[in-house]
Amino acid sequence: MEWTSKKIRETFLDFYKRKDHQIVASAPMVVKNDPTLMFVNAGMNQFKEYFLGDSEPKNVRVSDTQKCLRVSGKHNDLEEVGVDTYHHTMFEMLGNWSFGDYFKKEAIEWAWELLTEVYKLDKDRIYISVFAGDKNDNLELDGESKEIWKGLIDETRILECDRKDNFWEMGETGPCGPCSEIHVDLRSEEERAQIDGKSLVNEDHPQVVEIWNLVFIQYNRKANGELVDLPNKHIDTGMGFERLAMALQNKKSNYDTDIFMPLINKVVSISGKTYGATDSKQDVAIRVIADHVRAISFSIADGQLPSNIGAGYVIRRILRRAIRYGYSFLALNEPFVNKLVEVLVAEMGGQFPEIKLQQSLITKVILEEEESFLRTLEKGISRFENYAAKNQDKNIDGKFAFELYDTFGFPIDLTELLASEKGLHVDMQEFLNCLQQQKDRSRAATIIKTDDW
Ligand code: GLY
Repeated sequence: MEWTSKKIRETFLDFYKRKDHQIVASAPMVVKNDPTLMFVNAGMNQFKEYFLGDSEPKNVRVSDTQKCLRVSGKHNDLEEVGVDTYHHTMFEMLGNWSFGDYFKKEAIEWAWELLTEVYKLDKDRIYISVFAGDKNDNLELDGESKEIWKGLIDETRILECDRKDNFWEMGETGPCGPCSEIHVDLRSEEERAQIDGKSLVNEDHPQVVEIWNLVFIQYNRKANGELVDLPNKHIDTGMGFERLAMALQNKKSNYDTDIFMPLINKVVSISGKTYGATDSKQDVAIRVIADHVRAISFSIADGQLPSNIGAGYVIRRILRRAIRYGYSFLALNEPFVNKLVEVLVAEMGGQFPEIKLQQSLITKVILEEEESFLRTLEKGISRFENYAAKNQDKNIDGKFAFELYDTFGFPIDLTELLASEKGLHVDMQEFLNCLQQQKDRSRAATIIKTDDW
């Protein structure tokens, strides 16, 4: 069977429907009613009140695919995006939830059944991690999960990992608990023969990746750091849809799946450049753009326009990152990101009709932002050229680089790139000092304290 992304998504939801789960819609990606979050960073966010016992769910078993954005706060992958092949700003998280109903046994056994009997992933390529315990929180090894897994997979494929990887929290406060992760090894047979996949789990290998996290929510983290037991025990699982597609479509990169290739092909056709040839900077730029247009478009569709504050500023920065990568590495100095919206809508408008409904607004907002930022880039470049002409043989003063960054919105890595093209260096220490001083000033001005939910 050909595992198209559409088929993968449908199969997941059908599987949990057959296990008596109610299939619900993704919540909007932009969060307006939770002071601890700007954007949805996990499928469980919309169910937070059920976990905490603050309200009663209509159904105790639920499943969905949730639009998530990990670009701020506790879960922030922005710097990795595009540079590697398996992190994203916006991604879909396939999940199933139990609110005080089934717990570890069913969650683990069903995940295994779906992966190995329905999707038919090779069992010999799967590794499992369980929570090793944590002294500070006075928590022990999750022996119960380990025992359940031992009934399904050889014990040698189970790892015990610390809280960094195996204790899941949505933010600094809120529902949380130990988790058990499922990892797949997608390397070639030769590579697997040379290095044991187990040693690469949680080591940032692009083809030995976590695909699914099964969280056993049983605590609430209070603002003072204390963990308190929740009234009930719950299940919260999150599977990376794009990573699962990479595994099922036998690809080495999420970007090579049918989720991203239509966008990549469009960037290639607009820019006249190639993807996957020899120029790695060009490839990174194409991945950054294919990734970021999704985050921006879905944010706008969900009501967050680019602006100079808060969530709007995060979106503006993501869009500017895409524009700048196009400008610097693909020679795209005319608006181009807006032209990708059409492709995105054709691919994802079926599952997420909001982007189809908002297509013309999304395209218009992106175009206006692009026009304005391209003007900024041009002004910044001309100031830089003037400076460099007047200060020959000198390095670039960090204060000047900061002025370009702060007053003209000119990204520091672009200043560094322009400097390096002239054989110059930017005084980064001075730049970072100026940045720190500015951060201190704005932190002092905007301290917001969040208390327990
Ligand atoms: N809430 C599960 C996860 O995000 O991994």
